[in-house]
Amino acid sequence: MAADGDMGALMSVTYDVVAGDFVRAGEAASKIKRLLQQLGLDPGIIRRAAIAAYEAEMNIVIHSYGGRVAVNITSDTIEMLCEDCGPGIVDIEKALQEGYSTASEDVREMGFGAGMGLPNIRRSADEFLIESEAGQGTRLQVKILHKAGE
Ligand SMILES: Nc1ncnc2c1ncn2[C@@H]1O[C@H](COP(=O)(O)OP(=O)(O)OP(=O)(O)O)[C@@H](O)[C@H]1O
Ligand SMILES: [Mg+2]
Repeated sequence: MAADGDMGALMSVTYDVVAGDFVRAGEAASKIKRLLQQLGLDPGIIRRAAIAAYEAEMNIVIHSYGGRVAVNITSDTIEMLCEDCGPGIVDIEKALQEGYSTASEDVREMGFGAGMGLPNIRRSADEFLIESEAGQGTRLQVKILHKAGE
């Protein structure tokens, strides 16, 4: 093990996420999942990372003006940084509550808007940080620990 416990990045990828594009929605999460499978990570770890990536990507598609999902995989962590360019979240505490959603009727008819995305991301993560402000973008950081080779 390296002195600081970090062996450096195995892989870093960034995907742009387009607001309102329900045709391509989920593509970034699928690619991230495939990448983790190719790296041979534990299926339970991959499942948690795929849930977090999918819910974060969908939130950018549905609730934001557009943004990106970046993933950085090291020998012992999967880090995701999901950023968008607004409109931000007025009340983060509320947004984190199960069942809270501002999704429109149209979006609900497509099967989204249960208000479970952020709670599920938080549950899937070992470290979870969300920063947002009304009128600004939203920044979500998720870290999932894994131990390559175990
Ligand atoms: N990137 C974002 N930008 C702006 N608002 C967001 C963003 N992500 C989440 N929100 C706000 O937080 C609320 C809760 O998000 P969450 O993902 O938990 O539920 P949802 O997206 O409404 O429904 P579900 O994820 O179950 O389909 C959203 O309804 C929205 O108001
Ligand atoms: Mg959501």
